[in-house]
Amino acid sequence: MIFNNKSIKSHNNEAETKFVTYFEDSSSEDLNLALDSDMLTKIKFILDSEDFKGKQGELQIINLFRNECPKNIILVGIGKKEDFTLDRLRKSIGKATKEAAKLKAKSIDINIENLLSVMNLDMTITTICEAVVMADYKFDKYKSDRKASTLEEFSILYTEENQLESINKGINEGVILGQANLLARILVNEPSNVLGPIELAEAAKKAGDESGFEVEIFDEASIKELNMQAFLEVARASVKPPRLIVMRYNGNPEKKEEILGLVGKGLTYDSGGLSIKPTNSMVSMKSDMGGAAAVIGAMTAITKLKAKVNVVAVVAACENMIDGDGYRPGDIIGSMGGKTIEVLNTDAEGRLTLVDAVNYIIEKEHATKVVDIATLTGAVLSALGTTATGVVSNNDFFYARLEQASKICDEKVWRLPTFDEYKELIKSDVADLKNIGGPNAGSITAGLFIGEFVQEKPWLHLDIAGTSWADKDVDYGSKGGTGAGARLLYHLVKQLEN
Ligand code: BES
Ligand code: ZN
Ligand code: ZN
Repeated sequence: MIFNNKSIKSHNNEAETKFVTYFEDSSSEDLNLALDSDMLTKIKFILDSEDFKGKQGELQIINLFRNECPKNIILVGIGKKEDFTLDRLRKSIGKATKEAAKLKAKSIDINIENLLSVMNLDMTITTICEAVVMADYKFDKYKSDRKASTLEEFSILYTEENQLESINKGINEGVILGQANLLARILVNEPSNVLGPIELAEAAKKAGDESGFEVEIFDEASIKELNMQAFLEVARASVKPPRLIVMRYNGNPEKKEEILGLVGKGLTYDSGGLSIKPTNSMVSMKSDMGGAAAVIGAMTAITKLKAKVNVVAVVAACENMIDGDGYRPGDIIGSMGGKTIEVLNTDAEGRLTLVDAVNYIIEKEHATKVVDIATLTGAVLSALGTTATGVVSNNDFFYARLEQASKICDEKVWRLPTFDEYKELIKSDVADLKNIGGPNAGSITAGLFIGEFVQEKPWLHLDIAGTSWADKDVDYGSKGGTGAGARLLYHLVKQLEN
């Protein structure tokens, strides 16, 4: 889809579908949006009939029954002005975009003037464009009867020439962030027979080449040389060899010693290993690389939008399978950092790959702050559902930056406690640590296990097991991978500029 700006004076009414946003507490008199009298009459008729009130997410399609454009108007409810949030706008525009696609519209335009009473120009435009990109996707590439989306063009109408710079900045940012989210969704949705560790590494390389970050890929022999023992144990039962994917972006050469490390869990499939999962839990386990997808997506946006931060991202990509030579419950294994680990459950594999990746990013890439993001525990789903990402952190300042980022993109986060009592639960009688902490507080003990390897660096652990997957289409989202984390990590990086 092409995104552009058009002057209302010279180019109005070229799009097939026009979005007209409407606040619940505005009146039809406020509709000063360069609508012709035919459009205005019909909109007023709908508003007077009170079929449409402008509630958040409410849509009303008005077919104008004519040959010239626009052929349809979609009235888009944004709710009350006092309740306005960017995410309300994002959700409403996302729904409207899906509706326009159902109408088989090729082009959409929108006049955003009435929104500027509640929000500034470039954030409004970023949010709208992001929503349009995110809404225009569904995972149908393996369906023989799939139909490509008809949407070709989305235009922001402007009245003043001096708005152009802000408009273009908003469009650019919105499109790049929307695409970062889609890339993460696309990677998650790809099934494990198609996307294994090698293909995930290739996808990272392609993303790096297209957006401008450096990608280095380590094969199994190099991973052995790095002594990533815990990672290799998890990878061992699969016929698909592991890959260590390293992505680098230097956005702040003046402070080159300050490096943010992003670590994404990259299990391209998780069968549970010998601690095998029941079939129902296994079917969605192609999504166990959602953390990797998030960091790859984030890296594209960080690079394209030239964030002034040095960022290194690492993914220890492998598959957790079953084999005569696989690791077993009861094994005691080593790790790159030197700590020994008693494996009590081969399904708690993510943390084993992550601790080696965390150790690598600190020791070899010299990360000074670390974020790990992972589909780590079913327990986070029990605690927070599919609404919020569970977070474990050792640093209040860092967590506060994440909360800021979360507010901008509306990927919700919730911090879990880290009392010393929880740390006791992962101590082993026979090794330094054990890889499960017992039946309770599973998301906390999983996070704290990773925390044992961060060497006092400011650290955030994001458990996206609940937020990375959707059972149905909602608002701007689609069934399957949600791309959770891609936009959130980008906005976190922006919070760390300067
Ligand atoms: N990949 C799973 C976690 C998961 C569960 C992700 C549901 C997405 C949806 C992880 O590797 C796992 O199996 N965790 C175990 C840990 C347990 C054995 C301590 C779990 O949550 O059951
Ligand atoms: Zn598992
Ligand atoms: Zn897993």
